[in-house]
Amino acid sequence: MLRRLHPEQPESFAFTPANQAWAEEQIKKYPEGRQASAIIPLLWRAQEQEGWLTRPAIEGVADMLGMAYIRALEVATFYFMFQLQPVGSVAHVQVCGTTTCMICGAEDLVAVCKEKIAANPHELSADGKLSWEEVECLGACANAPMAQIGKDYYEDLTAENFTKILDGLAAGEVPTPGPQNGRYAAEPAGGLTSLQDFAQDRPARNASVALAESYGDTVKRIDGTEQPTQEAAPVAKAAPSKTASKSTAKKAPKPAATEATQPAALDAAREGGADNLKQIKGVGPKLEALLHSLGIFHFDQIAGWEEAEIAWMDSHLEGFTGRVTRDNWVAQAKEFSKN
Ligand code: FES
Repeated sequence: MLRRLHPEQPESFAFTPANQAWAEEQIKKYPEGRQASAIIPLLWRAQEQEGWLTRPAIEGVADMLGMAYIRALEVATFYFMFQLQPVGSVAHVQVCGTTTCMICGAEDLVAVCKEKIAANPHELSADGKLSWEEVECLGACANAPMAQIGKDYYEDLTAENFTKILDGLAAGEVPTPGPQNGRYAAEPAGGLTSLQDFAQDRPARNASVALAESYGDTVKRIDGTEQPTQEAAPVAKAAPSKTASKSTAKKAPKPAATEATQPAALDAAREGGADNLKQIKGVGPKLEALLHSLGIFHFDQIAGWEEAEIAWMDSHLEGFTGRVTRDNWVAQAKEFSKN
């Protein structure tokens, strides 16, 4: 397939301030002289922001990385994940057309796209809201046929439920991703044949769907300020061990509130400024600001937390309860404080 830049291009491109800050952090991950290695994440963020990869965006990223434009163009035109033409303002729909999905009905889904969106792939719908393409296996074959919309997978699709999803998107709704036939995840279509205790005790949604729902709008363009709109997505409860009966299965101990101790706080960051706490997986700008308000500015502070301090923090991060334990901040902070 010939991949060329679209004939109509915008005048300019600029990252949003938050995306610019994010991009600069990505570049710092690479050793001096190797900044070009950040090309894919930066192009990807540009696409997440704009919906597609424009020539000014490709050149802007090349300038940030000190690369010749042709080098950045080579990357952008090589990888099919980069959209080189405008996509729907609401969503770009990627229908898997590989073997398993094809056998299970992908052609019906493509027919829905042709009817509901546009006759040809990469063509905008009449209202400009949607576009579509057929892609190769997206690795969810056990839930075939499926499609990716935004960052999410919509699985176990039929022409009927897929039509409803597209109609919902066009009407401004954000459909619930995941299996559309009542399956929890990728268990046998006839129901679980093992780990049945887990089924009785599990959260309402599988972890991917719960996380997608926590963001509220998973087809929104990414401007760098995104945070889950609800409290942290529920984490799947640990499945009981194979030998434990439901009544004897141990529940994970909850941190006892009485043992919780507020970690030592600083009035301000030490000389040289605060560490970039956003490097800790799960910490975004909001959580970092919250940590600063609690007097936490440096990795070595977090690295030194004991159980009591973790318990205090886990219960005092408003809107992010349990994050310290869930994402194992202490181990991450120990690694970062070595640098
Ligand atoms: S064949 Fe469609 S996800 Fe693998």
